[in-house]
Amino acid sequence: MVQKRALITGITGQDGSYLAEFLLSKNYKVFGLTRRTSTPNYERIKHIEDKINLIPGDLLDQQSLTSALSYSMPDEVYNLAAQSFVATSWSQPVLTGEFTALGVTRMLEAIRQIKPEAKFYQASSSEMFGKVKETPQHEKTPFHPRSPYGVAKVYGYWITINYRESYGLFTVNGILFNHESPRRGLEFVTRKITHGVARIFLRLSNYIELGNLDAKRDWGFAGDYVQAMWMMLQQKKPDDYVIATGENHSVFEFAQEAFEVVGIKNWKKYVKVSKELFRPAEVDFLIGDSAKARKVLGWYPKVTFKELVKMMVEADIDLLKKNSR
Ligand code: NAP
Ligand code: GDD
Repeated sequence: MVQKRALITGITGQDGSYLAEFLLSKNYKVFGLTRRTSTPNYERIKHIEDKINLIPGDLLDQQSLTSALSYSMPDEVYNLAAQSFVATSWSQPVLTGEFTALGVTRMLEAIRQIKPEAKFYQASSSEMFGKVKETPQHEKTPFHPRSPYGVAKVYGYWITINYRESYGLFTVNGILFNHESPRRGLEFVTRKITHGVARIFLRLSNYIELGNLDAKRDWGFAGDYVQAMWMMLQQKKPDDYVIATGENHSVFEFAQEAFEVVGIKNWKKYVKVSKELFRPAEVDFLIGDSAKARKVLGWYPKVTFKELVKMMVEADIDLLKKNSR
């Protein structure tokens, strides 16, 4: 059988690393776009670095995307690169728009010019639902983004559909709800909590500083979610899918569960709430309905909320112990 080729933007990120592993297990030839940094940031992919092909490029640079397409000639393109931290999108709204919105058009243009038969996955987000219009949220729920990031993702969503309708490209949107893992960036609330709990458990720190504890999210495991990305590109027709667990929890509950893993009961004394960490506009409540993905793709999440929190706390304890040796 001919070996399939995939190009992943954002391969150094959380999802990119899990997707690369998954595609390697399916015998793909995997190419990843990486941008220039003054120090290496291959931490998440160092265990597979010799099995993947890294191509220098940036979503801001059209020529580099065209070259990456010409070099890799992929059957499938997964556009995971973005400025993905919602809080930063208020302090860097223009850059967020350049990466997270216009970057999608640049990638689609490169495909249209170099390899129009390539299938394209766009990393769309439940942040697009923002101030939610209905509960749970599904593929037909109207959007009301609440941050420059959410607005940029709505642009990315529609330009992906536009290239499908204008040029007949095979383009899909995966509307993924929050998904986490031990490889999650330290600035996101789940990892901030699990890393903080691990530090408190190991007596390296006395507290965690958090913002809005009432916000609720539908949290799944990133390893489960990247499989859905691939499944979407194996369908006969391009379409858009919500990927979620269908269960949500507050930040408060996540923290409680994380402290529970290390047996700390009086956990509230270790959490400080800072108004500085509240957002100018909050997304209060997200919960997804992934019935379409379950029916059409046969996808369902395997890791439960409890298992996810435990996995992340234990991984952070191991990491801190390893770093102290
Ligand atoms: P992440 O860990 O922040 O990774 C983002 C990746 O994008 C990194 O590899 C980063 O490279 C790369 N990148 C950023 N700007 C770039 C640019 N200008 N050119 C090239 N590469 C650039 O994000 P993630 O959690 O894996 O999420 C993957 C995608 O899914 C993102 O588009 C995110 O918005 C979307 N999404 C995530 C979730 C979630 O819960 N995780 C949910 C819905 C949608 P560096 O390593 O060089 O910074
Ligand atoms: N980051 C952070 N830090 N969030 C906090 C904190 C804190 O100290 N305290 C409370 N929160 C609340 C935020 O206000 C938000 O309501 C919630 O925790 C989740 O924040 P994040 O973990 O930063 O994730 P997010 O939901 O804003 O965005 C993530 O999920 C989106 C999908 O819905 C990112 O991965 C996005 O890229 C993704 O699109």
